[in-house]
Amino acid sequence: MTRDKRTIKFTRPVASNKEGLQLSTPEIVAAYIAKRLKTGIIADLGCGIGGQVIFFARECKKVYAVERNPEKLEYAKKNCELYGVKNVEFILGDALEKSTIETVSDANIIFSDPARPLSEKERTLDNLEPPIIEILRLYSDVTPELAFHAPPQMSPSRINLDCEREYLSLNGQLNRLTLYFGSLKSCQRSAVVLPGEKRLLSSNAVAIKSGDLNDYIYEPEPSVVKAELLDELAYEVSEKGDEILFYKGDGKRTLLTSSKLIVSPFFKDAYRVVGRTENDVSMIKELLKSERAGKVVLRFDIEPERYWDVRKKLEAGLSGSRTLHVFGFGKDIVVGEKIR
Ligand SMILES: C[S@@+](CC[C@H](N)C(=O)[O-])C[C@H]1O[C@@H](n2cnc3c(N)ncnc32)[C@H](O)[C@@H]1O
Repeated sequence: MTRDKRTIKFTRPVASNKEGLQLSTPEIVAAYIAKRLKTGIIADLGCGIGGQVIFFARECKKVYAVERNPEKLEYAKKNCELYGVKNVEFILGDALEKSTIETVSDANIIFSDPARPLSEKERTLDNLEPPIIEILRLYSDVTPELAFHAPPQMSPSRINLDCEREYLSLNGQLNRLTLYFGSLKSCQRSAVVLPGEKRLLSSNAVAIKSGDLNDYIYEPEPSVVKAELLDELAYEVSEKGDEILFYKGDGKRTLLTSSKLIVSPFFKDAYRVVGRTENDVSMIKELLKSERAGKVVLRFDIEPERYWDVRKKLEAGLSGSRTLHVFGFGKDIVVGEKIR
């Protein structure tokens, strides 16, 4: 069975065109955000096909669903009907217009998930529609409680606003960055992991120590790495009596290490280290052979078009049954087996 975006994001057959579906918020994310923004009246500026509106309606007394595209607003109405929510006032209009601001002026919280230009090379706050800075300015008299989705590729320091920066990962992938203003802000930076809704908040935790490779390695959840919360992760782990150290990292991958197996919702994956060698094909093959590998997963920075060539080269001649993961940082190669 092929699973299209509709089936991956929604459990019901939502109405949408291709673009609306592409920009829509998956149910599990929308449910989490709605719980965090539970209030009396909330306004969703640029509600698209209503992915988020449905879940706001389940948590809040009333939702204003503002959208300037009439086709999308019709989809949003149909989708609210499909999910059986009735406490939504649909407003066809521009979020930046005075009349819209007046209509939603009794809202307790203003939310917006602005559209990002899909082709944009470097993610910024500048090209979002509706623009976050404009909404902050125009709605400052309505309420100080605002929240926005922003491009998750942006690092915390690139957001020069007084807000909480919450990075969210979904099934091990970075999915969202949400900015919370006013009393919605609970810290500077936070990370959430879905499913499970586990949250890690920034604090004054002491810096994580670096250490040499030990028996286990871990890839932290991308939301934790992006929110720069490795110190807080190490502290959380230490509170339970375990010690985790920073092993190596580059722009793409971060590895932590420990001598004892640690379980944490903030690890994407954990591996038992089976060996270490130099970045040399014959030496890596020798190690893979001696460890009875059959399949090899490459976990280092490699151009996608070279991935299968290199993988086939490493797998040639292997006859074992284990699937081993090959991590590489410069000259250093670490081979590990995933712990399920
Ligand atoms: C990323 S989509 C929102 C998706 C939505 N969260 C969902 O789950 O379907 C952003 C939406 O904002 C709308 N939009 C952009 N600028 C707007 C404006 N000034 N006023 C009202 N809507 C706007 C776009 O038409 C688009 O549908």
